[in-house]
Amino acid sequence: MKRSSIALIGFMATGKTTVGKALVKNLGDEYQFIETDELVIRQAGKSIPEIFAENGEDAFRQFEAEICEKVSLLEKVVISCGGGIVLNPDNIRNLRRNCYIVLLKAPIQEIYNRVVKNGKESRPIINKKDPLREIKEVLEYREPLYESAAEFTINTSNKSINSIIKAIIQFYKTS
Ligand code: S3P
Repeated sequence: MKRSSIALIGFMATGKTTVGKALVKNLGDEYQFIETDELVIRQAGKSIPEIFAENGEDAFRQFEAEICEKVSLLEKVVISCGGGIVLNPDNIRNLRRNCYIVLLKAPIQEIYNRVVKNGKESRPIINKKDPLREIKEVLEYREPLYESAAEFTINTSNKSINSIIKAIIQFYKTS
């Protein structure tokens, strides 16, 4: 049966939020944009760095899994998923109920530049002494998980937002 929603997965700073919002604009009013991070923050009542610092990464992943289960029931949503969503296979199973899973990719150096430029190196996952090395290591570990979860993959590097949206909508409409 045709699924009505889209889940965007990928490493941090690959453009999930920007692409997700633009997708919703293109798909029309009945679609809604959702971010798992945003819902986790709301549910926990604190920021992501606070959750990591006070409750630990496991607690964050637990919140994330609960949110993922809830949003995977929704029709006609575009979900921007936190970069670590692929770490739990239940999340992917849940998302597949109503979503096509689209992977956004970008070169490591570009990810690093974007994260640093946005002053978001406070993301706990890479808030280490050598963020570039940390990004490389985490990405290397996750790469096969992203690849096996994805039903469509697009490299965002050197592409206009319009061409990215066009490709994803073409995939969505013909799936
Ligand atoms: C994480 C990515 C973040 C956020 C949390 C953990 C990760 O989301 O969920 O800091 O493990 O890659 P973004 O991918 O939206 O930055």
